[in-house]
Amino acid sequence: MSRDYIVHNDESEVGDIVWWKESVVYQIYPSSFKDSDGDGYGDLQGIYEKLDYLENLGVDVIWLCPIYDSPGHDNGYDIRDYYGILRKYGTMEDFDRLLAEAHKRGLKIMMDLVLNHTSDEHAWFAESRSSKMNPKRDYYIWRSGKNGQVPNNWESYFGGSVWKHDPETNEYYLHLYSEQQPDLNWNNAQMAEEMYEMVHWWLEKGVDGFRFDAVAHIAKAEGLPSAHNPDNLPVVPAYQLFSNLEQVHSILKKLNNMILKPYGPMTVGETSGLGPEQALAYVGTDRDELNMVFQFEHMFIDAKSSGIGKWNYKEWKLTDLKEIMSRWQTVLHGRGWNANYMGNHDQPRPVSRFGDDGKYRVRSAQMLATWMLTLEGTPYIYQGEEIGMTNVAFPNIEQYRDIETKNYFNHYIGQGKSKHEVMQAIWLKSRDNARTPMQWDETEHAGFTQGQPWIQVNDNYPEINVADAESDPQSILHYYRKLIALRKQHKVLIYGAYELLLPDDPDIYAYTRTLDDEQMLVILNFRGHEPEMHWPEGWTSEHAKLIISNVSRRYSTDEGAIQLQPYEARVYRKQR
Ligand code: NOJ
Repeated sequence: MSRDYIVHNDESEVGDIVWWKESVVYQIYPSSFKDSDGDGYGDLQGIYEKLDYLENLGVDVIWLCPIYDSPGHDNGYDIRDYYGILRKYGTMEDFDRLLAEAHKRGLKIMMDLVLNHTSDEHAWFAESRSSKMNPKRDYYIWRSGKNGQVPNNWESYFGGSVWKHDPETNEYYLHLYSEQQPDLNWNNAQMAEEMYEMVHWWLEKGVDGFRFDAVAHIAKAEGLPSAHNPDNLPVVPAYQLFSNLEQVHSILKKLNNMILKPYGPMTVGETSGLGPEQALAYVGTDRDELNMVFQFEHMFIDAKSSGIGKWNYKEWKLTDLKEIMSRWQTVLHGRGWNANYMGNHDQPRPVSRFGDDGKYRVRSAQMLATWMLTLEGTPYIYQGEEIGMTNVAFPNIEQYRDIETKNYFNHYIGQGKSKHEVMQAIWLKSRDNARTPMQWDETEHAGFTQGQPWIQVNDNYPEINVADAESDPQSILHYYRKLIALRKQHKVLIYGAYELLLPDDPDIYAYTRTLDDEQMLVILNFRGHEPEMHWPEGWTSEHAKLIISNVSRRYSTDEGAIQLQPYEARVYRKQR
């Protein structure tokens, strides 16, 4: 199958290549996707073997989470060698073969690239820590202590201070994530040059895009000042001192103009801590930086505060979710471009979080899929969402693998919280919810591996797996296929202006999408009961053609009001 990705948006971008706007992205977490050699870890050959599956799903781009050489303290987000492939994933030849085969099928590959930090086993860091006089000393951020204390009070995303004392030179280095992930110093021009060259190297190899990990943090506030700390705590969240600062933009502009532009890759930056107006500084059509960013507002909707506050659960409200998503939809319309996602390798499973992973698992996963595939912006599907994979609740911390989860557990148990309370939070928010192996079939370990998986498979694999979904025409998987095809068929679903209806309705999320004289109406019931709504202005049952729904039997004629089934989703097209 070959596809023509070069399409033109007749609104504002005539002549521009906008293939990435019309693409659907599928995110692969390599360790957990498919193991081909029985070592318990997914690998590149495993992905190769599943290209048919991805092609049949109808996605266009594969986002590969890091596959570089790494000691794996943060599953590859601690890169030891940007030019090498992790042995357990395969070799560079395997990568080249995967890329070539993907391209042959019209699929593109987007790399996950970490510019904010490296592994502490990276050769640069070995040199940097060896002596204050080493030419690479300044590749990282070193400071001496203050009266025997850490240089400032910033809290790490993974708990504790961002500073680690290194006895070698009696100074501290900064790490926003784990202590095995020292932050790079982007004020060092030579380091920056080496990074640009590395990005160029991957582009020359033919990769089609990048997801820039933690890119919002590559610049830190000048002088690294401590954050406001009225309660005099040992460490405090200081996100505003290392997120989305002006220098990030100058670095990205340079990267784009010098390196990216000639190749036209798809780029998406991971940028927590901003709203759509600030996001325009990255993705505004006049900015020359990135195509899209991953925003986090909706990911903190069920937390008492952002960042490390994610562990403190709060009931979420549909009205808040609608408000956040609608703001992003409207602010970026015609001025930038959204990246839409409801889950990834850092988040709980969407069907457990925003739907119902019990009685209405299938229906609610389909409803959520309808949402993602009918918004303006590029949709990102995380592996397993297409079969409605759910959260796990391992009873023991030993069954968890994620460094963030383990740090959280140790920290709060250390502070005297009960195990029960800590495990409850982990069941809701641990990143391992999304990292259990992909469930391919009902054989042992869900057909993911012939060996012992690196993390236990979710017990529900005999009921939730790809083979089963393939054989059931009503499955979530088949529904995704239909939705993806539908999106490609109707440009209004890609480019149409979004308008929220019923902002105050606590159960129903409804909106229209409009492009020229085409209009779609999307109705999503986020509840297990049966709310009803009236036809919006300008719509009647006679002029509305149902183009997809996750409920096959209509219970009412919908003439006066629309009576929704639990978790029902409908998309109507207006008949002229
Ligand atoms: C964001 C990544 O998605 C996450 O998995 C990782 O732990 C941090 N950045 C640090 O690289």
